[in-house]
Amino acid sequence: MWTTAQRRRLTETPYADALDRHAGSGISSFHALPVGSLAHAPDADTSPLAERTRRLFGGYLATELTLGSPELDSFFRAHRQLARSRRLTAEAFGADDTQYVTTGTTGANQVALEALRVRGARVLVDRSVHQSIHFALDRLGADVLYARTSPEDVEHGVITTLRQTLAAGDSVDVVVVGASAYDGSLVQMRRFVTSLHELTATSGCRVLVDEAWTAIHAFHPGLRRLTALDAIREVLADHPDWPASFLVAHSTHKSMLALRQGSYLHVVGPDSLRADVRAALYRVHTTSPSLPVLASLDLARAHAVAEGAALVDTALAQADRLRELSRRVGWLTEHRPVASTGAYLADPMKVHLDLGTPERAQEVRAALFEEYGIFVSRQDGSTLLFTMHIGVTRAQVDLLVEALETVCCGDGPECACADERYIIAYPPGIPLQVPGEQLTSPPLRRAGEELYSTF
Ligand SMILES: Cc1ncc(COP(=O)(O)O)c(C=O)c1O
Repeated sequence: MWTTAQRRRLTETPYADALDRHAGSGISSFHALPVGSLAHAPDADTSPLAERTRRLFGGYLATELTLGSPELDSFFRAHRQLARSRRLTAEAFGADDTQYVTTGTTGANQVALEALRVRGARVLVDRSVHQSIHFALDRLGADVLYARTSPEDVEHGVITTLRQTLAAGDSVDVVVVGASAYDGSLVQMRRFVTSLHELTATSGCRVLVDEAWTAIHAFHPGLRRLTALDAIREVLADHPDWPASFLVAHSTHKSMLALRQGSYLHVVGPDSLRADVRAALYRVHTTSPSLPVLASLDLARAHAVAEGAALVDTALAQADRLRELSRRVGWLTEHRPVASTGAYLADPMKVHLDLGTPERAQEVRAALFEEYGIFVSRQDGSTLLFTMHIGVTRAQVDLLVEALETVCCGDGPECACADERYIIAYPPGIPLQVPGEQLTSPPLRRAGEELYSTF
């Protein structure tokens, strides 16, 4: 996938190197960040709570520095190590530019929508996107048009709605799509971008793709074809005059070796778009970006270039072991949430196991945690979702297989949060109800209203 020279370059870690040089070097800060002193000042606080802070955060404390340019690059006006790190990341993903965000993909989505100038604009939104997008559009005063889509659709709902809207003589300024979801449904991005081009070849379009869950796919030769940036690049290569602007957000920690709150925001489009993203970052992002998170975004790209393909292969093999188990054990079946024949594909790194009834799924999930220390975050009715991310080890899967073969068989409420117009279950953070809709299911309404009253 990479030439030797490319691989050497893309595995450089300029920002992490700079942080490493200064971490624990004994620099006294007369600016802020008392926790930094705990790591290296010999006469620093030794009170019980300071010691506990040391124990809990260990070596991480040494990376909590307040240094700025020139020793460590400026976050908003990067031109040294951070700028180089971001350029390498853009190259690895095939973007024109990449920004690092340290306030999660929740923050990256806010930056993106600000940059795409959604205030007062007509924004066509995939109804199933993450709550951060719904709330940002609401706050920014966008004129939102929701498109509904389901895993069985042959054509993505956003494309169908766009076609109908344009045919009716109305315009759409911005399109927002969730390309990869927590449950492993991936939008067939080649088909999506091709259709988008057909509909907006001359008018152009501004697009946000939230590809939260699958950043690692770019580093595996088989899975790279499934990614948004690969599809965008391919369609743009055939249609270089298409006046399109794309922002693609990756919740890096979900699939790569990055700390939480690390997010890549990739840019493909004209220079003015890059400038708009930088300006939006300046307006929206915290002025105290986490240096450890920035360094981990640098390391995560290098790690994925060096090890990603092999680690994904291992993860895929582990996913196959679970599938094989489902064929062997009578009360387990593999559930496939998408048909993989139309608008969606199934992420091969996710396995849904159907345990027959919601009660059994609940019991098995509880037993896995209590008896084996195995955490399963997602239960959907009778199915449990197992994500084979690159941190899952063979020994962990050995234990899971043994546990599933041994445990057997309850009931628990879904947790729903609400404000007056949104009702959202987390995980996954996708609204059950958005403005203009009225949930009719009495239990969910009740759950929403009860929780709302506590806000
Ligand atoms: C599709 C999607 N987009 C964005 C986010 C937000 O990412 P973060 O929690 O890192 O802010 C999530 C988190 O679960 C998500 O699932």
